[in-house]
Amino acid sequence: MTDSHDHPRVVEPPLWEQWAAKSAELPQGERLQKVLAVRGWGSRRVCEDMISANRVTVNGEIAVLGRRVDTEHDTVEVDGVPIGLKPGLVYYLLNKPEGVVTTAHDPQGRPTVVQLVPEEPRVYPVGRLDQGTEGLLLMTNDGDLAHRLAHPSHGVEKEYLAEVEGAPGQGAVRRLREGIELEDGMTAPAKVSQPSPGVLRITIHEGRNRQVRRMCEAIGHPVNRLVRVRIGPLRDAALAPGKWRELTQAEVNALVEAASEGGRPVA
Ligand code: URA
Repeated sequence: MTDSHDHPRVVEPPLWEQWAAKSAELPQGERLQKVLAVRGWGSRRVCEDMISANRVTVNGEIAVLGRRVDTEHDTVEVDGVPIGLKPGLVYYLLNKPEGVVTTAHDPQGRPTVVQLVPEEPRVYPVGRLDQGTEGLLLMTNDGDLAHRLAHPSHGVEKEYLAEVEGAPGQGAVRRLREGIELEDGMTAPAKVSQPSPGVLRITIHEGRNRQVRRMCEAIGHPVNRLVRVRIGPLRDAALAPGKWRELTQAEVNALVEAASEGGRPVA
């Protein structure tokens, strides 16, 4: 086909297709179907179908397959419902004091973490801290997110400060970093530093029983005090022992991202 000046006419794809192709090339952001899937809106296939059925909007515009979104800045809705808002779900960050047990009910009558947060709606701890361990514990009624976070393949980092007996030498610290043989197998490499003699900052992404205590015992420096100071993106140095607060929406989003990174493909 030619125009009146005999130049070949360039047939451009519709604007929205050009725009979709551009946004799919953006290096930042996640594909929309993945964002929906990790937030529990169904398998990726189901989420793709929802997008194709024009049920999903980004910043008020109907989204197309392949669109990338930045959940920090974009507003994503399914049938007009913001994807971050799942009705009835609550997320608490608790600073667990020493001596409190991480169970819903303790037959021995010891104080439990559920007694430190509101009774309704009922929430459950994600993972556990030993009775003697202090620090950050996530509690929620979002079973889907709890399940993802608890799955070792998702590798959400947990950071601890451990006051140990003596001051580990470089060789001992290296053993912790490289992985150490415990009775249930080798530990994955850990990030380890010694901010002051006898205090280890240890970051692991496994969640084995009494793991940090057993790692330190294995290098000959048993733990005297253990505090969890970070769960994935969550930190709060200002939260006093025994206190809790709700996560912000940005923290929930960051947690959802952390739980999907490095994990098994969702569905
Ligand atoms: N590692 C431990 O040894 N105890 C905890 O409570 C958490 C991690």
